[in-house]
Amino acid sequence: MANVSKNNALKKLQDKLTERAAQGNLRQLKTTTGLTDFCSNDYLGMARSEKLRAAIQAAEQHYSHLPLGATGSRLLSGNHLLFEELEETIARYHHGEAALLFNSGYAANVGLLSALPQRGDTVFYDEASHASMKDGLRLSFAKSYSFRHNNLQDLKQKLQHATGQVYVVVESVYSMEGDKAPLQELAQLCQQADAALIVDEAHAVGLYGPKGEGMTVALGLQEQVFAQVITYGKAMGAHGAAVVGPQALRNFLINFSRAFIYTTGLPTHALLVLKCGYTLLPEMDAERQKVKMLAGHLATQLNKIAGIRCPAAESAILSVFVDEGGSAKLKDLALFLEKEKFDVRPVLSPTVPKGQERLRVIVHAYNTLQEIEGLAEAIAQGK
Ligand SMILES: Cc1ncc(COP(=O)(O)O)c(C=O)c1O
Repeated sequence: MANVSKNNALKKLQDKLTERAAQGNLRQLKTTTGLTDFCSNDYLGMARSEKLRAAIQAAEQHYSHLPLGATGSRLLSGNHLLFEELEETIARYHHGEAALLFNSGYAANVGLLSALPQRGDTVFYDEASHASMKDGLRLSFAKSYSFRHNNLQDLKQKLQHATGQVYVVVESVYSMEGDKAPLQELAQLCQQADAALIVDEAHAVGLYGPKGEGMTVALGLQEQVFAQVITYGKAMGAHGAAVVGPQALRNFLINFSRAFIYTTGLPTHALLVLKCGYTLLPEMDAERQKVKMLAGHLATQLNKIAGIRCPAAESAILSVFVDEGGSAKLKDLALFLEKEKFDVRPVLSPTVPKGQERLRVIVHAYNTLQEIEGLAEAIAQGK
């Protein structure tokens, strides 16, 4: 006999998928090979570094006495000295007092923002903040409000109505826009309003600061910033994340952050990737410079060849807006680029608000000037 309740549940899922497909927004996994990478977050080429691979292999020999997996939550069987040593390295590197590892950037933001602000507190977050920050705030008992993207006036006005402990949450480089937050002004405003500033450094780590420490350190704001979220899936080419801040914050998260407490710690391999990554990162100045040069060149080429609206290139991420045609046009353009052997993805609603769909081009230290120029020409041709 058919299982009626299971069939009903399946129909509900199917209806939602059909609805999304009809809107032209169905997400699907795909694999690609043989394309020039203008899509991944491997800004510095760490994920493909043979030097890093060799260092990790050597470290695995050295640490072969450790278990492969953490074997439990870090509060139970899952903690060992390598975690603690790595967290000290991370804290020092990013000029903080202490650091606590999480299993991903998503988990770090959810774990931090669901636990830290309490009932009666107020959080203001930039409207362009990553989904993980918004999800964390949805789990918090504090009140949270967005402010207009990078708009200090809007934030200033909203701060006047805050109650309890106040937090301001931003990204130093925005994941979708690729633009920078006005961190100095934000830090000043937070100081005046007695608000604690939290900075997600996901897209700045590796690229900014004398050793790729991130924007907080690059601007010397470590004393003014309450917590930095450092993620390892982008320029570090790895996985995991850390919250860097006061020792009391680390102790607090160990006690109250459910995304830290109720999960198995990172496997040893993941820790060794980070340990080795941190030894390579200071040496990657040439890569840091190259990414910025290529981003600037692509923006210039796009303006010159195609008159394309492409906000100032400030990071490895460029948002390319194509004026007419919306999602359908962008999807066609991405397919055209794929045929031309370029891997570039469109960012569509609901990931960004309707009307703000764009191509998101990411440049890497391993891209060449020729590839950049080829891509600009292909975009001009296909748009
Ligand atoms: C700003 C920002 N924070 C956090 C994350 C999540 O990091 P992870 O991929 O390590 O989960 C991302 C990922 O895209 C991001 O862009």
